[in-house]
Amino acid sequence: MRPIVLSGFMATGKSTVGPRLAARLGVPFLDTDAELERTTGRRVPDLWRDEGEPAFRAREGELVRTLLADATPRVIAFGGGTVTTPRTRRYALDHALVVTLTASPETISARVGELALRPNLAVGGDPVARARELLEERAPAYAECHLNLSTDTLGVDAVVDAVVSLVERDPLVVPLGTRSYAIDVCVDAPSRLSEAIARCKPSSIVLVSDSNVQRARHVSIDAALRPLGARITRVTLPPGESHKTLASIATIWDAALGAGVDRDALVVAAGGGVVGDLAGFAAACLLRGVRFVQVPTTLLSMVDSSVGGKTGFDHAVGKNLIGAFHQPSAVVADLGHLATLPPRERAAGLAEVVKIALATDDGLLAQLEVHAKALANGETAALVPIVRAAIDAKIRIVRDDERESGPRALLNLGHTVGHAIEAHGGYARWLHGEAVAIGTVVEMRATAALGWTPPALVDRGAALFAALGLPTHVERAELTASWPFVGSDKKRSGDAVRLPVVTSAGASHVARVGLPALRDAVLGG
Ligand SMILES: NC(=O)c1ccc[n+]([C@@H]2O[C@H](COP(=O)([O-])OP(=O)(O)OC[C@H]3O[C@@H](n4cnc5c(N)ncnc54)[C@H](O)[C@@H]3O)[C@@H](O)[C@H]2O)c1
Ligand SMILES: [Zn+2]
Repeated sequence: MRPIVLSGFMATGKSTVGPRLAARLGVPFLDTDAELERTTGRRVPDLWRDEGEPAFRAREGELVRTLLADATPRVIAFGGGTVTTPRTRRYALDHALVVTLTASPETISARVGELALRPNLAVGGDPVARARELLEERAPAYAECHLNLSTDTLGVDAVVDAVVSLVERDPLVVPLGTRSYAIDVCVDAPSRLSEAIARCKPSSIVLVSDSNVQRARHVSIDAALRPLGARITRVTLPPGESHKTLASIATIWDAALGAGVDRDALVVAAGGGVVGDLAGFAAACLLRGVRFVQVPTTLLSMVDSSVGGKTGFDHAVGKNLIGAFHQPSAVVADLGHLATLPPRERAAGLAEVVKIALATDDGLLAQLEVHAKALANGETAALVPIVRAAIDAKIRIVRDDERESGPRALLNLGHTVGHAIEAHGGYARWLHGEAVAIGTVVEMRATAALGWTPPALVDRGAALFAALGLPTHVERAELTASWPFVGSDKKRSGDAVRLPVVTSAGASHVARVGLPALRDAVLGG
């Protein structure tokens, strides 16, 4: 169990809930304000007033890092403004399960005792207005958490129950201010999806899947939806990349609008990356944007496409050329779905994991190598930690570069060449992940030829792809014939592409490489 942090504005119930929660879990309870007072021998309001906010926050951040560097399970209540310091907040999200308690400004004002002890709320003389102002200002910081609970409506026991089940779920979180969301990784647990949807409180549900997913997974998905008792509009699309089109998007819009959905409707995308990208884009535009939940059913969609909010569809000119950033409200990756996934599709999903490991995470790369055999055999016990680690690696990139103006482009490793091979094959010869495996090896060989990537690392990557049952090369003729498609890739700018360059295991940067130079490096002049 990770340490639990109770965060939230003053008077939202942290110090009431904290000891009860700790007792229930049988772990110690700590309060950062009390710790500060104990270690400084001074009262927090005095420290705040005398040191000023920046110095106080620095002191508080130091304490939080010291406390959470120790992974001992315990419940730690933060001060009301602790998470407003980005570095402190990030550290807490990385080392603990963060629960934000919320309450209305009226409740807060009624609960706080003497204003003299709450200097920040006393500013301006109207505590309700001041609370509202601070809550608005801090909303993005408070939203970056594993779970949000309102103590306006929930009693202490209900809050404790909810945190106990959070501990069992142990979700990951994508911290993007008010667009933050949790990712559940589980095995054969339809209730996780029910709960994730229930947390969204939708007015109705638009369930999007494809015919393969519908046939193979409907028992589990229906088991998750049935208890919700919500009105469901079902949209079943034809499967495959060739149907990742505007026509499929229109099918979703027609069904949703035909059913008269409103802005509180929730689109649930149950399927692989194709369904997720389509349903996400449909949701991004429907009524100018409704929420959606990702229910990835392929390995590729679990580790890659369901996380990060890229949505869209293909155009005759190239893949994913039209799209939008639209973050899901939740992701539920239930590895039970992989039971019916063809082994070739499963291997294709691992390609994206190798890609992100090579580019950003040497620990994950080593983990993949150690467990390659079990992963190639599709052993769930081996897959669970890999899926979590791969999602975590993607979160670390996306959280700092949601809209791909910088490091997120590293995730395009293998995709410049990969997309070209895929397009040349008419999206039928190679699966996306297979093309990415080939593309990664071809691109790394090219950047090795340019003197940027150690040749031994290219061999290491190729050996891992092969061990996972993935292709690592194509005939020269196919590569040459695929080349014209590189020019239509959206990573191109002018006569160059922005190419991820792996410089050592888990380390990479993006370089602008001229197309002629890249062509020479790939095809050998
Ligand atoms: N949005 C992003 O950030 C992002 C990232 C990577 C890839 N992608 C996109 O993802 C797509 C590829 O995703 P994919 O590999 O999941 O392909 P996919 O969605 O086409 O699924 C692969 C096949 O498996 C079937 N299937 C899905 N789940 C199944 C299950 N549990 N049991 C049996 N059959 C099942 C599907 O019907 C399909 O035939 C590409 O379009 C790619 O561009 C998007
Ligand atoms: Zn990809």
